Amino acid sequence: MLILGIESSCDETGAAVIKDGRYLLSNVVASQAEIHDRYGGVVPEVASRQQLTTIIPVLEMALEQAGCGWENIDAIAATYGPGLAGSLLVGLTVGKALAMAHNLPFLGVNHLEAHIYANWLRGKIELASNESEHSDWEYQEGDPIFPSMCLVISGAHSELVLVRDHGQYELLGRTRDDAAGEAFDKVARILGLSYPGGPAIQKASQHAQEELQQQGKSAIQALNAFRLPRSWLRGTYDFSFSGLKTAVLHLAEGVVGEQNIHNTRSSENAGKQVSQYTRMGLQAAQRGGANVELLAASFQEAVVDVLAVKTRLAAQEYHVKQVVLAGGVAANVSLRARLERELRPLDIRLKYPAIEFCTDNAAMIASAAFFHLLRGEQHGLDLDVEPGLSLPFSKK
Ligand code: KG4
Ligand code: ZN
Repeated sequence: MLILGIESSCDETGAAVIKDGRYLLSNVVASQAEIHDRYGGVVPEVASRQQLTTIIPVLEMALEQAGCGWENIDAIAATYGPGLAGSLLVGLTVGKALAMAHNLPFLGVNHLEAHIYANWLRGKIELASNESEHSDWEYQEGDPIFPSMCLVISGAHSELVLVRDHGQYELLGRTRDDAAGEAFDKVARILGLSYPGGPAIQKASQHAQEELQQQGKSAIQALNAFRLPRSWLRGTYDFSFSGLKTAVLHLAEGVVGEQNIHNTRSSENAGKQVSQYTRMGLQAAQRGGANVELLAASFQEAVVDVLAVKTRLAAQEYHVKQVVLAGGVAANVSLRARLERELRPLDIRLKYPAIEFCTDNAAMIASAAFFHLLRGEQHGLDLDVEPGLSLPFSKK
């Protein structure tokens, strides 16, 4: 089954053609990151206008690269939530219009579920290839296994989810304030690094570690150069990153002191700092790279620490054999390496998507759609966007 997937939930415009939910024929992503970098984050009105100008060329490119015409496509799928309303509307409307014009089944896809299904994606195949003949959901070598513990970490979500089977999700914990990706983006802004913050902080951290090694010191020193707080929220699988963000803000500001950090830990206070980000970022950048990079490394280590330990604890409690990462932050190499180290002694496997499938893309939309279409599901053309959509959790 060939599915044309469309993704437009935020600042990436994507179109992809995927065979049998797993095999890539094409995957085109146009990113607006350069435009939003100017503002230190996504400006929703700018994002939706860009989606409008980009969507048709991206779609045409995806069909061309897949080497197929409309006669080859079996269904169309587009993200309908969560995300920015204006951005979502563009991809969903184009998807529905194309389904009507070509008389094809249509399916709206939950963006968060699609991030999980990025783990089913494999390499590129040619349209003529017979490599996959399995139009079913039987387990295939390399697929994620159920039940699995899934850590969904994107720009707007941080959730620990027990995935019992296709479409069966149990929420174990979520962030009480900032999402992990949001913390990366905001801290990058504080430090005067580029948007999106995740890759920029990862790069700064790697550079800090290399510098120390060149000086004959241990790279680990970079990770603990600044003592930053970890919010463990013991006894729960919830997360909190706003205290950490505020601690970085104060260090960048030069107002170092345990008392200050302690007093600004509440998310209420953290919100008041947001307007200062750009100013602080510029000041920090002006003070020179070394401290900024060490601070970036210490911040990343604090986030990785909490995410890895809590995920490992959940995996142990629920006796799963696999941990699955999903969302943009799953691209983080330190997180992947740390989780490998946590899980290997327990004989729990770690699975994560290839880097290009971690951040927003349309291949994952088509993959998630495949498993819904197999169940005979499809949507009417009256489907509307749902900016606040969550995963379809079952009750515990
Ligand atoms: O899943 P995604 O592409 O978009 C949403 O659905 O939100 O995630 C974007 C987030 C951004 O916050 C970005 O900074 C973060 O993923 N990210 C990373 C890395 N690459 C992207 N965070 C940490 N390390 C990375 N290498
Ligand atoms: Zn996403």
